[in-house]
Amino acid sequence: MFRGRTTDLYLYMSLGVLVLQTTSLVLTMRYSRTLQGEGPRYLASSAVVLAELLKILICLLLIFYDHDFSFLVLNRVLKEEILNKPMETLKLAIPSGIYTLQNNLLYVALSNLDAATYQVTYQLKILTTALFSVSMLGKRLGLYQWLSLLILMTGIALVQWPSESLDGPAPTPLSAGSQLVGVIAVLIACFSSGFAGVYFEKILKGTKQSVWVRNIQLGLFGLVFGLMGVFVYDGERVRESGVFQGYNPLTWTVVALQALGGLVIATVIKYADNILKGFATSLSIILSTLISYFWLVDFDPTRYTYAHTPTL
Ligand code: C5P
Repeated sequence: MFRGRTTDLYLYMSLGVLVLQTTSLVLTMRYSRTLQGEGPRYLASSAVVLAELLKILICLLLIFYDHDFSFLVLNRVLKEEILNKPMETLKLAIPSGIYTLQNNLLYVALSNLDAATYQVTYQLKILTTALFSVSMLGKRLGLYQWLSLLILMTGIALVQWPSESLDGPAPTPLSAGSQLVGVIAVLIACFSSGFAGVYFEKILKGTKQSVWVRNIQLGLFGLVFGLMGVFVYDGERVRESGVFQGYNPLTWTVVALQALGGLVIATVIKYADNILKGFATSLSIILSTLISYFWLVDFDPTRYTYAHTPTL
């Protein structure tokens, strides 16, 4: 199929931004975790909600920009594409709900597994994504493509393999039962990551609606599920010290980077696919490992790499 120059430009730009965004998110999270501030730590659940809100806001601005800054057209687009098409909007509840489940599963995984085992096992999502792309989108992958995915998965798992650490506290031993729960949680998360990504790709590529409208729809459900998370996990703490307890400029940076991440992921899925997204995020794992080693002079990538919402 003929690909326009503009499409290629968007593709390379979004892939580049995704690598930079994932790398900076990893490093900012790592830094924010090592920074010992006073007072309570910020609530991860509220950061998730704020990131969704910011994502929706940016998408609104982008639609506004796409339609020559006309409030009238913006209003019409939102009404016609979101309100008047409830079934189309409802479709997005599926990936949104699965992403919420995935984020919670990863939280369970991290509570029952050490970070290194979690990171290494989670790389299986590279293969589940390929499997879903083949079965749901009818993509065809040749032998060399399967082999390169296997090599990528192994390589990234090896980059994150635990290194012998001479200093620091010895890790608390985890029971076999607890490890099993953790591994099962990661394995389900691998399938949910592959399925949700490919389902979103099918929606984005199967209809004419813009990627920004689709992201607003996804974000609206994300907001609802996220608010439920705040009440369920942190309701008590919110009542005691408020939603913004423990927020500092670094927290806001993490929130902004997370919102940007959602937008860039959507753009990459639209102009390329989930498999290429896997390559880009893998590249950023290697990049952040190198930066940690050479710049931060502190090599222990297994502890903080490619973090997800629950590890905020
Ligand atoms: O590990 P995985 O690549 O599946 O993680 C994708 C993450 O990106 C999820 O946390 C999901 O909430 C987020 N996402 C998003 N907006 C999109 C697509 C994914 O925020 N359009």
